Amino acid sequence: MLDARYSIRSHTCGALSADSLGAHVTLAGWVAKRRDHGGLVFLDLRDRTGIVQCVFDPDASGAAFAIAEQVRPEWVVSLEGTVRRRPDGTENPNMATGAVEVIVGAADVLNRSETPPFEIEAGIDTDELTRLRWRYLDIRRPDVFSALVLRDRVTQRFRKSLEERGFMEVETPILTKSTPEGARDFIVPSRLNSGKFYALPQSPQLFKQLLMVAGVERYYQIARCFRDEDLRADRQPEFTQIDIEMSFAEADDVMTLSEDVMREVMHEAEIGLDLPLARMTWHEAMERFGSDRPDTRFGMELTDVSEVFSASGFKVFADALSAGGAIKALCAPGAGDWSRSRIDALNKTALDNGAKGLAWIAYPSQGDLRSPIAKFFAEHELTGLADAVKAGPGDLVCMVADDRQLANEVLGVLRLGLAEELKLPRPGFSALWVVDFPMFKYDADEERWAANHHPFTRPFDEHIERLESDTGSVLSYAYDLVMNGLEIGGGTLRIHTPELQRRVLERIGLSAEQVQGQFGFLLEALSFGAPPHGGIALGLDRLVMLLADCHSIRDVIAFPKTSSGSDPMTAAPDIVSARQLKEVHLRTD
Ligand code: AMO
Ligand code: AMP
Repeated sequence: MLDARYSIRSHTCGALSADSLGAHVTLAGWVAKRRDHGGLVFLDLRDRTGIVQCVFDPDASGAAFAIAEQVRPEWVVSLEGTVRRRPDGTENPNMATGAVEVIVGAADVLNRSETPPFEIEAGIDTDELTRLRWRYLDIRRPDVFSALVLRDRVTQRFRKSLEERGFMEVETPILTKSTPEGARDFIVPSRLNSGKFYALPQSPQLFKQLLMVAGVERYYQIARCFRDEDLRADRQPEFTQIDIEMSFAEADDVMTLSEDVMREVMHEAEIGLDLPLARMTWHEAMERFGSDRPDTRFGMELTDVSEVFSASGFKVFADALSAGGAIKALCAPGAGDWSRSRIDALNKTALDNGAKGLAWIAYPSQGDLRSPIAKFFAEHELTGLADAVKAGPGDLVCMVADDRQLANEVLGVLRLGLAEELKLPRPGFSALWVVDFPMFKYDADEERWAANHHPFTRPFDEHIERLESDTGSVLSYAYDLVMNGLEIGGGTLRIHTPELQRRVLERIGLSAEQVQGQFGFLLEALSFGAPPHGGIALGLDRLVMLLADCHSIRDVIAFPKTSSGSDPMTAAPDIVSARQLKEVHLRTD
């Protein structure tokens, strides 16, 4: 709480109330509004704590009155005066200080201001680029500021809750070597080592593991991470993790610790968390919701209708099944009367997400079903389908026949889009763990297996023997914390023996030399008595976005980047001089 200590003021604006009547006060802040009532001039003075009305009276305010006539919005002033009750009928119940005003005796202009490019008040309709160009003015607006206040409270609560449980904060390097988390690295050329580069950390992953080898046992860090990837509403190139690692802990321990800490943190935003949180296997999440971060606040779940069409004469379906795939369906209530062009838009979304097509049957509120493919189906197939997905008048059934994983993913995307378009109510708060992720995923472009989380994740003990022979079926001790369909955090148990670590790195296609060159230091560390360990990282920006009910992660970051990764205020990234390039041994052609 900001108070008046260590400043030129005696009180803050927001602290004034009926309890302050008669007090002689010195205030300082920005002119939020100025109203000239012919005779009296009213200034709304704003500081971080709030706004208070100040009255300049030509009789009572003396020389200060001339200043009131001169000032404009956003000028910085200090003033002295006496707190008095507002005259009857002029109280403002919408203002925290609305019962009182300050009758000004003396005033000083501390600085002038240009006319701001947008109003400094809540709920303005100004495009984001303009707001980011003058972000320091944007932050003066109460709604932007309050998101930063919440972020601070949440961060401090994390620190307190973790410290109370024996976690210690340790900083790890920013100029470092690549830590693969699935994104591209930002790289920094080294002046002292010609032709060599640091990578900015995608996460402190390897360092926190090394701290476990070092005997720290319980580590946390409010860690900045850097990932050069395409940006979205919930992704920034630099973002903050509450990064946690613990020794001698199993997956249950990490999840329980996270739950206990999260409950205390969310209390700051007055959101309760019923513990323990539900857990859903990755497999179930994909089958039912088509996503590894399911939004369970609404239904419209996916159904496997492969059985219904097991003897289908529709080639598309028959081919998918004979290739070992599946036919998955979802039933969208209220879309049965949609026009052909609206349904074609769904088809396009399906294609954009990798499907070969979208099969659909619309059941209008009245009349016969509509579908370009119903003619391929036998009567018992149509009734079987309607029964399986519980379709009735007014519904639209969408089906994808493909590799099971792909069919699930495509319908998962459609499910979210349809929920948005149909304005399906999403009551309550959904929080759950998604667990038991596959250890690997196949990268068809590169024709190799890749780590699903990161390659330091520990495979299920009982699956290790089939690491090479049946790679796709190996599950891992991995857990993601999902809230309202957002991935808020993710973690895993780690491999703590050099032999297994080497096997996994080789399984994702690294040669023995590459393993040694990139991860030799890790393997070496694991050979010196590494304790079993595991951890998690919670995305601070995403969490605060959720708690503040914002739609973009940019709303909870003081100086965010635009979707093209630039900062309209400082104009970063920018060119550098030829000399700077030469110093770091780089040439641009
Ligand atoms: P992961 O990559 O899942 O795990 O990241 C953890 C959490 O960080 C948040 N996050 C992001 N937030 C904003 N912008 C981004 N670009 C971004 N990328 C990730 C998400 C995510 O859940 N080292 C592992 C953790 C571990 O295993 O302990 C890691 O970084 O909320
Ligand atoms: P086609 O025979 O390729 O013209 O496809 C007939 C209909 O089936 C079209 O409406 C396609 O969008 C749809 N379709 C094609 N492939 C698939 C698939 N794999 N899954 C679901 N529907 C599909």
